[in-house]
Order: sequence, then structure tokens, then C-alpha cells
Amino acid sequence: EFMKELKGVTQLEEQLKQQLNLQHVVVVPGNSDELSWVKQEMGKACVRYMKQQLKSNETIAVTGGGTIAAVAEMMTPLEKARNCLFVPARGGLGEQLENQANTICAEMAKKANGNYRLLYVPDPLSEESYQTIIGEPSVKEVLELIRGANIIVHGIGDAITMADRRKTPSDVMETIQHGNAVGEAFGYYFNQHGDIVHKVRTVGIQLEDLQHTNCVIAVAGGRSKAQAISSYFQQAQSNVLITDEGAAKELLKGN
Ligand code: F6P
Repeated sequence: EFMKELKGVTQLEEQLKQQLNLQHVVVVPGNSDELSWVKQEMGKACVRYMKQQLKSNETIAVTGGGTIAAVAEMMTPLEKARNCLFVPARGGLGEQLENQANTICAEMAKKANGNYRLLYVPDPLSEESYQTIIGEPSVKEVLELIRGANIIVHGIGDAITMADRRKTPSDVMETIQHGNAVGEAFGYYFNQHGDIVHKVRTVGIQLEDLQHTNCVIAVAGGRSKAQAISSYFQQAQSNVLITDEGAAKELLKGN
């Protein structure tokens, strides 16, 4: 029974890899919408993959969200890669403390026995403060580390769920709804064709930066995120997906 399940999952991985044109896909059994341990399994799978890729003195940028928090939870000491540095991928996106990239970055670094640097910038910035803040030497230094990251690990969310969770102002909420946004990652909201409907102004990794990073790992699962995942990959440049059976089966429907 277990082998049968494994075989099924391997097939899903192969099919998804082709459909989304990715370098590597991991599908863990189950649907994380229903069972919380499935999220931890995705976390474990992500840690395993990161450890295969990481070399000494490399930098890892991580986003916020509950799924990446599960990656941090599952992290274990890096044995081969010495002196690695963890940084948050982007500045504040309006998340609660436990879902913020800074929090997750620090926890992941501690569990990995690595180092970390944090970004102290307020949530959605005005154009004026944005220009001032990115000029601050201490912020500039961390931003350069972020831009030079060797590995980026990020979440993908359902657009409306994320806009609600971030207490998005009503005018922006309207843009997101009228633009039919279905997915969100890195503070960008996408419609089903992958067009950017709205972007939260904050410092850190921008979508264009993903092209210069060889290893961009998206970690997102649950049947409810299938549309979000699909919208994100129409536009963006991640080359690895760690997901679950719930999302994978839904993504492959109609093919
Ligand atoms: O806010 C950070 C973030 O990574 C978003 O970009 C993403 O949509 C969300 O978290 C995913 O959160 P969760 O893993 O809790 O669904």
C-alpha cells in the first residue's frame, strides 16, 4: 500500500515538472488543507532539498508565511555547509509576527546553526520613505546580502486570503478584487494568467531578481492553493516546487 502511494506521488512529480516546466518537484502525500502534519512534511522535504544544494558560506533568503515557518520548524543543523547566512527575502508585508520573514529567518538560522541578518523596515512604505530607507547604510548592507542570495525559499498564497490576513486597505482590496487576483507571492498579486494586479511596495527581492538566482524554491500546498500556484508560475521564475498531493492533483486536473 505504501509503495503504491509512493509510486503515485512520483508520477505526480513527473507530470507537474513537465506542466510547470520546472527543474525539480517534490510532492508529499496528503492535503495540507485538511491535515496540518502534511505542511510539516513539506517543511521536511524542503530542508532535505536545501541541504543537498547548500554549500559553505552561502546565503539563503526566506519569505514569511505558515508554510515557510514549517520549513524553519523542521530545519536541523547544517553539517556540510559551514557559515551560512539567512536573510529575510523582503521587508514587512503586513503579516503578524509569527508569519513575518524576520521571525522565520531567525528561527531557521538558529536551528541550522547558521548566522542571520534582519531587515527593520516598516510595512507598506510611501514612495518617499522608501527612497530614504533604501539609502540607510544598515538597510543597504542587508539588501545587498539579500540580492546576492544563493537560495531563495518562498511561499505562495491565495490572493484574497493574503489580502485579508494583511488587513489590506479597502482601496487596494478593490484593486485586488477587480483585477481578479488569485495568487500572491513576494508581495505581488497575480491573476490567473500571471499578470501582476497589485504589488506591495517594500524593500528586498523583486520579481526581476529571481532570474539571477539559480535556486528559487517555492513551498506551497493544499488543494485550495492550486489556482494560486498556477497563477504564480505563469509569471515567475522559481525552478523548484515543494507541494502536496492535494495541490498537485488539482493542478493536474483538466490535463
Ligand atoms: O506573506 C508572506 C508569504 O510568503 C506570502 O508571500 C504568501 O502568499 C504567504 O506568506 C503564504 O502563507 P502560508 O504559507 O501561511 O499560506
